Parts: sequence; structure tokens; C-alpha cells
Amino acid sequence: DAELAAAGAKVFKKCKACHQIGEGAKNKSGPLLTGIVNGEAGAVEGFKYSKPMKKAAEGGLVWTEAELAAFLAKPRAYLKGTKMSFAGLKKEADQKALIEYLRSFEN
Ligand code: HEM
Repeated sequence: DAELAAAGAKVFKKCKACHQIGEGAKNKSGPLLTGIVNGEAGAVEGFKYSKPMKKAAEGGLVWTEAELAAFLAKPRAYLKGTKMSFAGLKKEADQKALIEYLRSFEN
């Protein structure tokens, strides 16, 4: 849904200090997020993940819509010890819009 994705682009401003997405995206203080929806966790080449993120990845975590929403709502509660210093997206509508935006950059 293009309208929802457009709303999500605005929400993504909260992520831009640390993440890039789309063509030419590079790792910054956070990993690039192109193709993250339904992608394997902890799998971006050249990015140094935290120990708990590596463990989650070894455990087979996939960023489904549900897992992403849970992570983004409260990153540090979802993944204890994550180095993503972001308080979280409280509003379900923001999570939904943002995920739609992320999905528009699927590989
Ligand atoms: C990791 C999304 C905000 C820094 C991640 C991952 C996702 C994500 C999906 C996991 C990536 C993977 O498995 O490859 C987002 C979104 C944000 C946001 C959608 C905004 C709503 C931020 C901010 C920062 C940040 C503001 C920096 C202050 C990081 C770091 C990691 C990470 C350092 C690696 C975490 C670890 O290894 O434990 N982010 N992020 N993120 N993000 Fe964010």
C-alpha cells in the first residue's frame, strides 16, 4: 500500500541517524536495512552485531512482520543487550507504516 509506505517514510526519519536503506545504502552505526522484511537477522555483511543479536541469528531469527513489530516496539526489552539504542515505536500505526516502508525495499 503506497500511502502506508509514504507514512512509513516519515516514521523512518527516526531511524536515519543510524540506518540507510535502498540503492547505495551503506552500514552506518546500524546495519543497512534493504531487504530486511522477511530477511535473516544479523546477516548484513561487514556489520559488527552485538552478542545477543548474533545469538538470535544463530537461533534462526527471521524478521517477519510480527518479529519486526515486537523488536521496534521496545528493542531493548525484545533483545536484552542489543546495541541498538532506540527507545521504541509505541504506536502500532507507526510500526505498521514503517514496516510497509521497509518492505518496499525488499530484495
Ligand atoms: C539493528 C531497524 C533505529 C542502531 C536493527 C535491526 C533492525 C533495525 C531491523 C536488525 C538488523 C539486522 O538483523 O540485520 C531500525 C528501525 C529504526 C531503528 C526501523 C527506527 C524506527 C535505530 C537507531 C539506532 C539504531 C536510532 C542508533 C541510535 C542499530 C544498531 C543495530 C540495529 C547498532 C545492531 C543491533 C545489535 O547488533 O544488537 N535496527 N532501527 N537503530 N540498529 Fe536499528
